[in-house]
Amino acid sequence: MRDNENGNNPRRAFIKNFAAGTAGLGLLGGFPSITIGEDRSRIDNLNKPFRFVHLTDMHVRRGRKGNIGYRQCIDHVNALDPKPDFVLMGGDGPFDGLYTEKDEFEDQIDLFATISDELDMPYYHCIGNHDCLGLSGRRKVPVDDPDLGKKFFMDGVGMQKPYYSFDSHGWHFVVLDCIYEVEVEHGQAVSAAWWGGNWLGFKPGYTVFTAEGDRLSWQRYTFPWDHHLEPEDDLEHERIAEREAFEEQQQILLDEELQGEPILR
Ligand SMILES: [Fe+2]
Repeated sequence: MRDNENGNNPRRAFIKNFAAGTAGLGLLGGFPSITIGEDRSRIDNLNKPFRFVHLTDMHVRRGRKGNIGYRQCIDHVNALDPKPDFVLMGGDGPFDGLYTEKDEFEDQIDLFATISDELDMPYYHCIGNHDCLGLSGRRKVPVDDPDLGKKFFMDGVGMQKPYYSFDSHGWHFVVLDCIYEVEVEHGQAVSAAWWGGNWLGFKPGYTVFTAEGDRLSWQRYTFPWDHHLEPEDDLEHERIAEREAFEEQQQILLDEELQGEPILR
């Protein structure tokens, strides 16, 4: 808590100076220490390739059928073959707590938690800036609401600590909480749709990581999804149309290149 030099409400001062950083994930690993004569099965296990999924920025809500889209995403992950060992959440699971009414945010948290529980494998939470209640100048909760902050979301999904670490297959995973105070006015721009893990809001998807020895590789997966924008979502319609036109143009250039035709115009 900051000093209250100006006689302001110290909690208000704290909120004013708060800016939320994106949640982060640190990976340390790939070089497990093995002593000579150690149990062979442990060594085999450490060298065994494994896969995990990174889901992020789901921003689940009922609007734009985001809850249905997220369930489709979870079904897609559950159908992966080979099956991933676990799923890492990257934060911003529910749509938003920064400028959403508390009741609605609570519903979004519940949707996110309930659908996430349908995963067939273990999963690990990570806190994102939009997972915090009311830590924004655009908040829709009283500034002295006792649930202001990270704990409302953490309790809703059963998260014990905002940061932690765990081991898997000889790798050490560090889940970071990168939400901290900075001396700036809060002027953050955020997505206003169910983007499904894709900020461009075009093709929702996720990333599958494969760890093999000391090597980490990854691949993006998408799944079919028809956008269900609301009538007033002009900007989103525009962005999606722009993205479609861009991808179409890229495909034309690629086809020309593959046919040996000049691509410079
Ligand atoms: Fe996000």
